[in-house]
Amino acid sequence: MATPTGYPRELVHDARLRDGSVVHIRPIRPDDAPRLQELYDRLSRDTAYQRFFTVMKRLPPDWARILATVDYRRRLALLAEHDGPHGVELVGVGRYEPTDEPDTVEVAFVVQDAWQNRGLGAILVREVLDAADARGMRRFRAYVLSDNRRMLDLITRFGEVREHKMEQGVTELVFTRRAEPVGAPRASG
Ligand SMILES: CC(C)(COP(=O)(O)OP(=O)(O)OC[C@H]1O[C@@H](n2cnc3c(N)ncnc32)[C@H](O)[C@@H]1OP(=O)(O)O)[C@@H](O)C(=O)NCCC(=O)NCCS
Repeated sequence: MATPTGYPRELVHDARLRDGSVVHIRPIRPDDAPRLQELYDRLSRDTAYQRFFTVMKRLPPDWARILATVDYRRRLALLAEHDGPHGVELVGVGRYEPTDEPDTVEVAFVVQDAWQNRGLGAILVREVLDAADARGMRRFRAYVLSDNRRMLDLITRFGEVREHKMEQGVTELVFTRRAEPVGAPRASG
């Protein structure tokens, strides 16, 4: 399919994960909507809940279409795909979305269960923050379930937390990007 206007080709590349497997990272396109639904179908209940704070039977087609259609500036999503025995499959998504504050975007991430803990989440966080920064977005907001240590730790690895609120089991963080991540080494890619 032809790439949409403004498609940032410079964000397309392959990345090697800690276990040696390779994923292809690229900005999302409108025709990815069905792939987002298929990815949702492969998520465990816990992973789906941690990402969407609700569990749905399927990701509704309208929602998938909205998630897949971005302007690559105020809204951008990066996909990680893997060419495996079942063909090319989406295994992770990181995105940012505008908020009601012009300098702040909301970020969200998901990695398919079998692909978690291999360093893909860290790659997506770093690259989404870098892509946002390159487009002038300097403040980030994330809503994370308060017991989701893994995501909270990833945010503090890459971000400097400026505001922190907790309500009904959900932690809201506002952060800026660190010049250099703290803690774990950078994943290759
Ligand atoms: C959060 C998520 C995106 C991270 O992706 P990932 O590919 O698993 O992340 P990584 O492998 O890069 O890093 C995970 C890190 O957390 C660590 N970790 C794993 N389980 C952990 C836990 N229970 N508590 C704290 N840290 C944990 C891992 O050891 C790893 O650290 P390391 O790089 O120092 O080894 C992924 O787990 C996911 O999709 N979770 C469900 C959806 C979600 O929570 N989204 C966030 C909403 S914004």
